[in-house]
Amino acid sequence: MDKIYCTPGNAGIAEIAECIDVSPNDFDALLDFVKYEWIDLTVVGPEDPLSKGIADAFEKQGRRILGPTSKAAMLESSKSFAKDFMKRYGIPTAEYRVFTSYIQAEDYIRLKGAPIVVKADGLAAGKGVIVAQTVDEAIDALRLIMKEKAFGEAGEKVVVEECLQGEEASFMVFIDGKTVVPMVSSQDHKRVFDNDQGPNTGGMGAYSPAPVITEKLQTLIMEKIMNRALKGFKSEGIKYKGILYAGLMIKDGQPYVLEFNCRLGDPETQPVLSRLDTDFVDIAFAITDEKLHTIKPQWKPEASVCVVLASEGYPGKYEKGKPISGLKEVEEMKDVVVFHAGTAYNGDETVTSGGRVLGVTALGKDIKEAKERAYSAIEKIHFDGMHYRKDIADKAINRPA
Ligand code: AMP
Ligand code: GLY
Repeated sequence: MDKIYCTPGNAGIAEIAECIDVSPNDFDALLDFVKYEWIDLTVVGPEDPLSKGIADAFEKQGRRILGPTSKAAMLESSKSFAKDFMKRYGIPTAEYRVFTSYIQAEDYIRLKGAPIVVKADGLAAGKGVIVAQTVDEAIDALRLIMKEKAFGEAGEKVVVEECLQGEEASFMVFIDGKTVVPMVSSQDHKRVFDNDQGPNTGGMGAYSPAPVITEKLQTLIMEKIMNRALKGFKSEGIKYKGILYAGLMIKDGQPYVLEFNCRLGDPETQPVLSRLDTDFVDIAFAITDEKLHTIKPQWKPEASVCVVLASEGYPGKYEKGKPISGLKEVEEMKDVVVFHAGTAYNGDETVTSGGRVLGVTALGKDIKEAKERAYSAIEKIHFDGMHYRKDIADKAINRPA
């Protein structure tokens, strides 16, 4: 591989890629760029261009792209589509009903009682899911989604589903439409504060492997979820080439799908791909060329932990443009990588430019060592208002044997 381009990019990836100013949703402009620069492979990060059909547009022009078509991406962009798909192929998930009528949804919530989960059907940047502990809370959520249209069109339909109790974990696979290949397991930390308190975020940290996913459970996940999904794609003529992510609830030793994403999960990918010992580009080519069966990704035996450093106020309102110090010192640390999220350059200086700013990721012989390494790197990093969880990976470390 000679060169990487990235749009829009940030101050971190600018170290290894040339950042260009083309909108990820302007497919014509991207295709012109790809042709002009003779780009062999395009890797799509976020769900928005996938759901709008970037893979369809590229494939029509014979361009290699890692990411599913818009139809396949509906597994993420429409929760009702995903639930109905799971039902058709026997993929374990919470019991649910889909509503387009507010009154009927309200009646159903009253009938079922709490706790209960209310989900806006469409993409809502991770904010359209409310786990309600009381009927009133569920009805408030329903009103917010369907009447006040807090998530716009995403709330024209809602999924109301059974609240599952258990332990959450994340599981991703590579998939080329014919073969699915598992990645190593991981676990996210969605709440903003320690001990899973406070509002949900895009993810405050993650680790890999997730001890809750035993070998036996992984076999069940592959059999009951991933292979059934693959069978579903095949029988519905859906072209799925890329990454499939399942957000899982593990209950009584059984995996249930809470959500599918059609892309790499954030922040799970930071620790998961840090453990990958095979060239990601080789895997990407195998996927786009439908030769995934020829490749066996190798994983490092080490564990990995990623801690997210966020801006003051996140997940609510936050300011941008705070200078970040200490990155150079951390660069010299062994087995530590700082992945950038919301960062930018202001002249020569790296500054904050998003809610989640950095993902400090470390490898170690076990999760405890990886955690210690990540937190000792964080001691060197500073920006005004920086906050982060202090308990990332504790659930794994303190788990009874
Ligand atoms: P989702 O975007 O669908 O994964 O939902 C976001 C978060 O809401 C999940 O990570 C869970 O913490 C929670 N959640 C979603 N669905 C359920 C469910 N059926 N039961 C319990 N918690 C859920
Ligand atoms: N970590 C969950 C997601 O990427 O949506």
